[in-house]
Amino acid sequence: MPPAQISYQKSGLPETGTLVVLSGDGAALGPAAAGLDAATGGTLGRAISAAAFKGKLFATLDLLAPAGSLLDRVIVIGLGKPEDLKEFDWTRLGGVIAGRLGEAKASAAALLLERPDGIAVDADQAADVGLGAMLRSYTFDRYKTKKKDDEAPKSLKLTISMDGHAAAKKAWGAREGVGEGVVIARDLVSEPPNVLSPEEFAKRCKALEKLGVEIDILTEKDMKKLGMGALLGVSQGSARPPRLVVMKWMGGKEKDKPISFIGKGVVFDTGGISIKPAQGMEDMKGDMAGAACVTGLMHALASRKAKANVIGAIGVVENMPDGAAQRPGDIVTSMSGQTIEIINTDAEGRLVLADVLWYIQDRYKPEFMLDLATLTGAVLVALGKTHAGLFSTSDDLADKLSKAGQATGETVWRLPLGPEYDKMIDSQWADVKNSGGRYAGSITGAQFIKRFANDVPWVHLDIAGTGMDAPQTEISKSWASGWGVRLLDRFVKDNYEG
Ligand code: BES
Ligand code: MN
Ligand code: ZN
Repeated sequence: MPPAQISYQKSGLPETGTLVVLSGDGAALGPAAAGLDAATGGTLGRAISAAAFKGKLFATLDLLAPAGSLLDRVIVIGLGKPEDLKEFDWTRLGGVIAGRLGEAKASAAALLLERPDGIAVDADQAADVGLGAMLRSYTFDRYKTKKKDDEAPKSLKLTISMDGHAAAKKAWGAREGVGEGVVIARDLVSEPPNVLSPEEFAKRCKALEKLGVEIDILTEKDMKKLGMGALLGVSQGSARPPRLVVMKWMGGKEKDKPISFIGKGVVFDTGGISIKPAQGMEDMKGDMAGAACVTGLMHALASRKAKANVIGAIGVVENMPDGAAQRPGDIVTSMSGQTIEIINTDAEGRLVLADVLWYIQDRYKPEFMLDLATLTGAVLVALGKTHAGLFSTSDDLADKLSKAGQATGETVWRLPLGPEYDKMIDSQWADVKNSGGRYAGSITGAQFIKRFANDVPWVHLDIAGTGMDAPQTEISKSWASGWGVRLLDRFVKDNYEG
């Protein structure tokens, strides 16, 4: 089902259809909703109090339209104490509204976006409501050929009516692109692995060209020439050739160094010769969530014409067991020249990132590199599904990301790095080994990647817990969350656009 379509118009009551109104603590109504109540002889207010509806945050109430109006129904959504709402709550509010409308099988609705305390809802908040509604109504049902009639999804048209709608419309112009970026990331993560080969992934990146993103695709031959033995070692057991995609958005000043985002794109991770157990292996189609996020982010930045120079890069491979696959005990040479002893072929993401990071710092001299990867099961043990693990050589970058996380609800939690952990991946036979064992598994994974950042300020986000098999929230009912697109869009907007 295509996600909800959002539009903004000036404040006023629709005459027909489904109406959504907001109600604060104590069931207080805003001026337009109070107008409807008055016009219908107080029936709306009576129905609300008869249902003992108190206006608690995100509580919902479905009512038949009051007599004397031509509306079909009125849905009331609780706002709690509007002065207590945090920034991300406006996005969640949009999600709650779209969720309720979805249950009501409404294909169109009007929302009176007004606060009962008379303070104006600002343009950014209004755009966030739209974004939340858009993301909540997303589903991935491309491969369902038999849709039952009663669940036939209808795409939702939501008209948001408010004071200051012109500014809201403008803010939505930028926010919609961010929503599309999240949708792109979710689609890529959900797509089955037979369909989404590395080549197909690269092809989908190509679609960003129409927004003015420059796309550069490296093939196996190119990567061999560059000496990317770490990435190629992972890919060599697969019948489907790897790709390295570089996406460039140069919206900043010419003299400004680019910033860079790098994603792990393992389209399927069997574990290779160190094969994974069968139970749940199908989830490993999502092992490219980092690359999906980078792709969605580039869409978001380009579509809102971000004033920043940004490089997005993804290493896209498949990790398969095969006669040609790499073995534990193999030693490969990375593009950096460092040799790597393969202990476990299932620690493949860091091998892919090693060569992509080295390539990006060598070719583009970025101000920083930030990588995202579904890197370790251990990060789920440490943090669960609500925070991504953050590792960084820069306190400044870590702080900026933490703030963007609070603002967007895509939260991160910093974990340590240090020489003691680094020792755990020294190898008896080569410069480094690709696994430090069970203890501190997420940290040793990060320490490994750090050795390939060549002292460029660097951040690693371990999104194994947040990027796939995601928890259900107000703004996502999807297995694929599209995690990180909103976080990084915000991080760029707040810190790198002038
Ligand atoms: N893709 C997995 C990590 C993962 C696990 C992602 C669960 C999402 C959910 C990664 O390639 C992996 O297999 N990591 C190993 C590393 C170990 C062999 C050092 C792990 O976490 O067990
Ligand atoms: Mn693996
Ligand atoms: Zn993996």
